[in-house]
Amino acid sequence: MSGQTYPDRMIHSEKLGGHMAAAVSGLDLNRADTKTYADLLDALHANLVLCIRDQTLAPVPFRDAMARFGTPVLRKQLAATPDCAEVNIISSEDRDELGDGKKLVNGASWHTDDSFMREPCSLTMLYGVVVPSRGGDTQFTNMYAAYDALPDETKARIADLQVIHKYQSSRQTNRVSKRPASEMAAMPEATHPLVRTHPETGRKALYLNANRMEQVVGLERAESDALLDALIAHAIEPRFQYRHVWRQGDVVIWDNRCTMHKANADYPEGERRLMHRVIVAGTAPV
Ligand code: SIN
Repeated sequence: MSGQTYPDRMIHSEKLGGHMAAAVSGLDLNRADTKTYADLLDALHANLVLCIRDQTLAPVPFRDAMARFGTPVLRKQLAATPDCAEVNIISSEDRDELGDGKKLVNGASWHTDDSFMREPCSLTMLYGVVVPSRGGDTQFTNMYAAYDALPDETKARIADLQVIHKYQSSRQTNRVSKRPASEMAAMPEATHPLVRTHPETGRKALYLNANRMEQVVGLERAESDALLDALIAHAIEPRFQYRHVWRQGDVVIWDNRCTMHKANADYPEGERRLMHRVIVAGTAPV
């Protein structure tokens, strides 16, 4: 589904970034059939980030459309819409309600969603409900390409390494919201491979999260920090990135098993940015 028009369905797709990301237009997710959803999933696997333009989706239909890609899961770290608990809100008005009450920018440093969970979500869907006049882009980086570009000796060194991920990591670069003890108990630390194999494409990808990784298992802290810092710096080189400039009505779906992303809060003061988010269940990385 790349650079094509489907006359029977009036669907058009175009490449967005050189090495990742595509956009699809002429499609109403509320009415799409099973074949179309299968094509969208193929396009996502090929492009890692897929934007579906011009959608109008209330929370429940948004959740139901995303349920065609997997099982939506509840996460309490973000506020939810009143209509649908599986639809989280990411907004320019977000605050650390249980902490200091100050403004918080969710996702402002490079990360892959949910890596502090033992079975992190596979896909994230973000729907641009209100988009600022400029700024507020989401950046993505291609973790297959970042892995492929590593020198062979680095690949050999990291092949069997595991990393501890935590909701509140001591290496954290972006503040995350304070959560009650009951919720923290449901998010004990998770240990994941540094290189994971995508369960559907079979490709290897670096698996990093600048905001949640604590330490490489079996390495001294200084050596672990140096390795993680070097791998993050490599993975976010501009050659691996795509930057999504939002249009109102975009639904952007990305695969957390082979990408990292980051939000930018650089839009004009006083302008609003409102996103609705659904994530779908994944499996323990291997
Ligand atoms: C996220 O990190 O999931 C949010 C990304 C964004 O708001 O652009």
